[in-house]
Amino acid sequence: MAIKLNHTIVHSRDPRAAADFFAEIFGRPKPVPFGPFLGVQVDNEVTLDFLDAEGMEIQMQHYAFLVSDAEFDQIFGRIRARGLTYWADPGRAREGEINHHFGGRGVYWQDPSGHLLEIITRPYGSA
Ligand SMILES: [Fe+2]
Repeated sequence: MAIKLNHTIVHSRDPRAAADFFAEIFGRPKPVPFGPFLGVQVDNEVTLDFLDAEGMEIQMQHYAFLVSDAEFDQIFGRIRARGLTYWADPGRAREGEINHHFGGRGVYWQDPSGHLLEIITRPYGSA
């Protein structure tokens, strides 16, 4: 039996804005409506379902994505083109820097609801 993460809900202040932001930064197709959700799929078939938090306090979640070097260049280029604040660390102490953990590159930034997004070019713990 193969167990694969299929989807997760991303509580959002404005799901349209959050889903569009995610799709544009990551170079994905337009979000797809499904019931109350706006879905954006990544390449391992996991769908992020953006949902209106309807006034609930949003608990910051962390979503991390493994990307190629070319994709890192594209996504990080979009982050900088938008003038977004980014950090080398999840504690958000090293602003305006990226990290080079495990011989790759990594960077953190926030989505419009405050969730912490991350891209890395090497998985955690890789040689
Ligand atoms: Fe992480």
